[in-house]
Amino acid sequence: METVLLPKSWNVDQVLDDLDQHGFALIDDAYSPEYVHALAEECASRLNQFREAAIQNGVVSKIRSDHILWINEELQTAQQHIRYLNALSDQLNQAFFLGIQEVEAHFACYNAGEFYALHRDNPQRKNDRVISTVYYLHEDWQDGWGGELRLQDKYDQWHIIQPKPNRIAIFQSDLLHEVIQAKHQRLSITAWLRSGNSIW
Ligand code: OGA
Ligand code: MN
Repeated sequence: METVLLPKSWNVDQVLDDLDQHGFALIDDAYSPEYVHALAEECASRLNQFREAAIQNGVVSKIRSDHILWINEELQTAQQHIRYLNALSDQLNQAFFLGIQEVEAHFACYNAGEFYALHRDNPQRKNDRVISTVYYLHEDWQDGWGGELRLQDKYDQWHIIQPKPNRIAIFQSDLLHEVIQAKHQRLSITAWLRSGNSIW
């Protein structure tokens, strides 16, 4: 893998410590205004390609109503975020021997009224998602707009995390969480740091 330096704003030691202590961590002011803007533009230019996340292989689920677009090589700006997450994975692997091998990601759009009910990204550690990350990329967000991430930490304490612009929420994929109904369009990138096997 090529060497990618993490943004200076990322306090990796703090992230490692918080993940270790609580099972989740936050990075605020993750990126430069220029990059945030480019990412928001890339997302906006593709909004017409987003598909209902609840429909997979023709099967409709009621637990979520957001719309998503999987990130591939064409989405050049989002690829940079994925490169940073790969570099973060190297650090997580060194610290916790997680065996993370790849990053899988999609844009998500929650329009007013949309939500994602309580779930785990890796129930009973059945898949190879080890760490979940969510980057909030709307450029403006106000308290009262709903759309909070509600997350149970590794000691079963609940936390309400505001989808603050330019914030990255990072958490163990086996933790229970939900997205409260949004009252305003909420844009994000969910990315999973995945291992080749399902051992945590
Ligand atoms: C998910 C998810 C949380 C969020 O995409 O699986 O739980 O805050 N997202 O968007
Ligand atoms: Mn989730």
